[in-house]
Amino acid sequence: MIDLRSDTVTMPTDEMRHAMAECIVGDDVFVEDPTVNTLQNDIAALLGKEDALFVPSGCMSNQIALAIHAKAGDEVIVDDESHIFHYETAAPSIIARVQLRCVSSASQGTRGALSVDDVERAIRPGAYYFPRTSLVCIENSHNRYGGTVLTPAHFKELKELCDSRSLALHCDGARLWNACAALDVEPREFAVHCDTLSVCLSKGLGAPVGSLLVGSHTHIQAARRWRKILGGGMRQAGVLAAAGLIALHKHRQGLHFDHAHAAQFAKSLHESGSFIVDNYPTQTNIVIFRMVNPVDTTTYIERCQQHGLRISTGREGGWLRAVFHHQVSASQTQEAIDIIKAVSSNFAHN
Ligand SMILES: Cc1ncc(COP(=O)(O)O)c(C=O)c1O
Repeated sequence: MIDLRSDTVTMPTDEMRHAMAECIVGDDVFVEDPTVNTLQNDIAALLGKEDALFVPSGCMSNQIALAIHAKAGDEVIVDDESHIFHYETAAPSIIARVQLRCVSSASQGTRGALSVDDVERAIRPGAYYFPRTSLVCIENSHNRYGGTVLTPAHFKELKELCDSRSLALHCDGARLWNACAALDVEPREFAVHCDTLSVCLSKGLGAPVGSLLVGSHTHIQAARRWRKILGGGMRQAGVLAAAGLIALHKHRQGLHFDHAHAAQFAKSLHESGSFIVDNYPTQTNIVIFRMVNPVDTTTYIERCQQHGLRISTGREGGWLRAVFHHQVSASQTQEAIDIIKAVSSNFAHN
């Protein structure tokens, strides 16, 4: 079975399993796990930030960021296709107890890259009857827009606006590594323009579990309290961090293969004339596509599975999603293309 539902489906490699078995651990709630501490230090250094905190998931990392930057009743600006808005179970209303102000980036043709003008328009004036805007969140690469990439220059413009209006800027960088690989830039080139970033080890980098929130000492101290409140203090978490260290230091280099496979898949579908590929040509490892005449996605996905291919739904409106990762080879990519074409021609004849 070729599994393109997400880059989260990868299995830990033998090297990771070995490192997990061999690593030295301690109680991380006492800040005594040397492997976790190494991972946190390495990520903070890579991003050029003072500190980092290992947390179980990207969702927890984002929600902690909201909680440390915003007070209950504040408003947080996000884009209307963001992961924070769609897939985090309304947690901002439960944990930080904030209201999300969703700004569309699609209308500008910038697809996931909130424009400075749009963000500026969404910042509330100071009157007492408005919510107080305290935070802007951006996502890079952008999941629901098919792995599109924001540039460091765009981050810089948004940060200048945020600074001028005393707002914090948080980046949901679950796939920041993919954005870096696509643009051939270092993570710190984005991080320098953010107050905090969330980065995941369990997506394209292939670790079994874990994300990190990265920022100043003060922010990470506050984040540590929130992690405990949320039940995210993981004790001998070094067994997970050990796999994370391999992901961080050994798997970033291979991301361009995933991008090449996604590009091969997208090109083949695009050139067949039977599909629309969103944001073609793709920039990273996510391909969002649909048949020119949209089909019932549940049936389509089931038929793909019967042929040995797993994909998932993209967005509403018949969009499908294929995500490439290090456990999919070039020949499996070709096999996936053939299966998609076979399933689609059956649909066309029904
Ligand atoms: C952009 C983005 N942010 C955050 C997350 C949440 O990560 P997790 O599943 O580790 O909670 C995901 C998960 O796919 C994601 O795609």
